[in-house]
Amino acid sequence: MRGFLKREGKYKLFAILLLTFLIPVGCVQGQLSKDEGEYKNGVVVCAYPDAAQVGLNILKKGGNAVDAAVAVQFALAVTLPEAGNIGGGGFMVYRSGKGETNTLDFREKAPAMAGPNMYLDSAGNVIPGMSLSTHLASGVPGSVDGMVQAHLKYGHLKWEDLVQPAIDLARNGFMITKHLANDLNRTQAEFKKLNEGKIYMIRDTPWKEGDLLVQEDLAKTLEQIRDKGRAGFYEGVVADELVAEMQRGKGLISKTDLQNYHAVWRQALIGNYKEYRIITMPPPSSGGVALLQLLQTVEKYPLSRWGFNRDSTVQLVVEAERRVYADRSKYLGDPDFYKVPVDSLLKPAYNLSRMSNFSWDKATPSVSILPGKFVGYESDQTTHYSIVDRDGNAVSITTTLNGGFGSKIFVKGAGFLLNNEMDDFSSKPGVPNMFGLVGGKANSIQPGKRMLSSMTPTIIEKDGKLFMIVGTPGGSTIITSVFQTILNVIEFNQNMQQAVNSKRFHHQWLPDVVYVEKDALDGDDRLKLEQKGYKIIDSGPSGRVDAILKTKSGYYEGGADPRGDDTKLGW
Ligand code: GLY
Repeated sequence: MRGFLKREGKYKLFAILLLTFLIPVGCVQGQLSKDEGEYKNGVVVCAYPDAAQVGLNILKKGGNAVDAAVAVQFALAVTLPEAGNIGGGGFMVYRSGKGETNTLDFREKAPAMAGPNMYLDSAGNVIPGMSLSTHLASGVPGSVDGMVQAHLKYGHLKWEDLVQPAIDLARNGFMITKHLANDLNRTQAEFKKLNEGKIYMIRDTPWKEGDLLVQEDLAKTLEQIRDKGRAGFYEGVVADELVAEMQRGKGLISKTDLQNYHAVWRQALIGNYKEYRIITMPPPSSGGVALLQLLQTVEKYPLSRWGFNRDSTVQLVVEAERRVYADRSKYLGDPDFYKVPVDSLLKPAYNLSRMSNFSWDKATPSVSILPGKFVGYESDQTTHYSIVDRDGNAVSITTTLNGGFGSKIFVKGAGFLLNNEMDDFSSKPGVPNMFGLVGGKANSIQPGKRMLSSMTPTIIEKDGKLFMIVGTPGGSTIITSVFQTILNVIEFNQNMQQAVNSKRFHHQWLPDVVYVEKDALDGDDRLKLEQKGYKIIDSGPSGRVDAILKTKSGYYEGGADPRGDDTKLGW
């Protein structure tokens, strides 16, 4: 086109007009795309616009998907303090452009001094809030070691170049969105109650959209990580500050806990749904196992004929979810401490047998569903990002502080928030956690153990090639949001953005209710389900799915969740 403009001067004005009106916005901004929202060389979808831009810049500089992921993780620790983090943990599912698969578990661990009764009073009752907003709520953070290990194994660009953009965002500040302003304002009282000294997110006048958030302490901490890698967080000044913070609030994390923390590479959990190969996270996430169980349970039913969110579809999916979450409560935990019966849970015959007491006539009461037997078990407070690079390397990472802003306790002087991930353990058998999830022995607290997660970062192949990258925050709803997004594409023929936008519903065995987003169900469908005994409760937005789909034309289409500030950028 450039040559055309130069040679044919008389057509220049016409050509400029044509370019102005015909070329999609992305191209005008310097992005090369086939159609608006479809890209050839890579896509980043994550929960904050500035962090997405950091990831795209890394891809454009020749970084691969893992380089971009590392840079996005650190950028989100600055721009998405609710969930992006260096004081939390997460999971990465990876698929190289050639098809190699791997997963990295950088989930937090219980400190060495933790124990099964640490949240119980002398009468054996759970002390409310203790696993949520105290110094005892934090597991040993895994995110920094996770990023270091991911970069060592797969990274291409220099480590310091991946951390620097986050330092710049922290030191120079960035303009906050309306969502973030609201979240900060809502949390001021708790920040003030739980923290001492200067905290950059605390101020006397309300935050508003467009304000600049500068975080000098966090910039200094990130510089340590930039210059010293793992040692910049788990040793030295930052480790000293973290342990001093623990001592201030009688927390348990020690220097030895920090030194002993190591992320773990785990073989990906792989299953099939029709002609698709599902590559997902094994325990200590419950997400991968539950997702494959759900897919197995519904595979034989004509969902696409019934239609998206129609009564039969919703009924079947709810009954599948009920049974799978019952299994989760009993059988899922950290595989390094508890023998999780993954093979038994993923036998197709087992999952079909779980539906033997399902009746189309009426809802199965959850009290009549126990975890199965076999011979032989976040909410917007978490965040997910999906990235693909020009070689087709794909990264699916979900990372979390657990609650919004974690424990809401900053490490004094170091400027980062501590997680309250210990609440993901079962504090006492049968007592629900923050997400209403119950658990037992498999997920009891033990020193050095990882708490069970619902995070479900997933990559899907079709015909041996990359097909989709998907994941979401949302606590207990993560699994059902990922499951329904996959069905939206495969069964209901939605494109990536539609599949992400589509209204979702959720059932988790206990409590025995179906949570539905506003307008998720047509009035008639809802009535039919209610007449069968389903208790339907309207809920707020469920999850923030950030996903990428390879389209039939071979381009990548992002789906960024409109429920948040989620952003897709590509080139
Ligand atoms: N903290 C939410 C999860 O890991 O499931």
